[in-house]
Amino acid sequence: MLVLGIESSCDETGVAVYDTARGLLAHALHSQVDLHQCYGGVVPELASRDHIRRIVPLYREVLARAGVAASAIDAIGYTAGPGLAGALLVGTAFAEALALALGRPACPIHHLEGHLLSPLLADPAPRFPFVALLVSGGHSQIMSVTGVGRYTLLGETVDDAAGEAFDKTAKLLGLPYPGGPQLARLAQSGRPGRVRLPRPMLHSGDLDFSFSGLKTAVLTQVGRGLDGTAAADLAAEFQEAVVDVLVAKACAALKQTRLRELVVAGGVGANQRLRERLDAACARMGARAYYPPLELCTDNGAMIAFACALRMQAGQQIEARSEGFRVFPRWPLGELAPPG
Ligand code: KG4
Ligand code: ZN
Repeated sequence: MLVLGIESSCDETGVAVYDTARGLLAHALHSQVDLHQCYGGVVPELASRDHIRRIVPLYREVLARAGVAASAIDAIGYTAGPGLAGALLVGTAFAEALALALGRPACPIHHLEGHLLSPLLADPAPRFPFVALLVSGGHSQIMSVTGVGRYTLLGETVDDAAGEAFDKTAKLLGLPYPGGPQLARLAQSGRPGRVRLPRPMLHSGDLDFSFSGLKTAVLTQVGRGLDGTAAADLAAEFQEAVVDVLVAKACAALKQTRLRELVVAGGVGANQRLRERLDAACARMGARAYYPPLELCTDNGAMIAFACALRMQAGQQIEARSEGFRVFPRWPLGELAPPG
């Protein structure tokens, strides 16, 4: 079965072709980083317009690279939410129109389900059941995953998402958008512990997180002035604080569920320090951490094509319920049927 995947929920247009027999055949991505950089964040209207410009050329490029004809596509998976409404509508309209033209099904896919299942594209791949640590720009959640479509929320952020905290802190440190990777780079030349930042909710006894206080603590430090290596030291300490909390909660989730496999997904999963610390912590517990291929950590079409393929194989396609099509800017992963 050949599945086309379309992602347009935020500032990346992603298109991919996944074959259930041969694996990922091709994927292409257009990042809007340059477009939004001067605004310090994503401007939704500009994002939507750019998706419109990019989506058809990307689709053509991916089919050519995969060496498949449009008529060979068996199904089209597209991100229907959560995300920016206008941006989601571009991918949704394209996918639904193409599906109509080809006489094939179009399947709405939950963006976080795409992230969550993407480590299964890696080699070696984890096996169900596993604990998933989902850390993106919009979400920070720990889930217990027992199979395709079987996701139980164990804990989540009570305020900012981990990626959001990275981005906001990077801005406070004067780094350009997108801040997460920039802050991680700056942290490499700094020393954690020179300034001490809090580890919010580290001992809360549950699997929830909070990151907004950390950002405020950074703001206080920035107010005192940053000279010499202070910015790099602060970046290193911030990263260490986030990583401390994420590692502790991920390990607590493994203990609580008695599972031995941890899957890490979402943009913050690209963070090298997080990976090192999770690998070490898992090894100490006789557990193992799995990550998507680095290029598939942040938003992409491959994870959407893949999630769609797994859902179809499991006979669990999500039906677009209404006439025409709709998007779901807010869509809890625990409620996988789209809101009626
Ligand atoms: O999953 P993603 O591409 O988009 C959402 O669904 O939100 O995640 C993007 C987030 C951004 O907040 C970005 O700053 C963060 O992931 N990110 C990182 C790194 N690479 C991306 N954060 C920390 N370290 C990184 N290396
Ligand atoms: Zn994402």
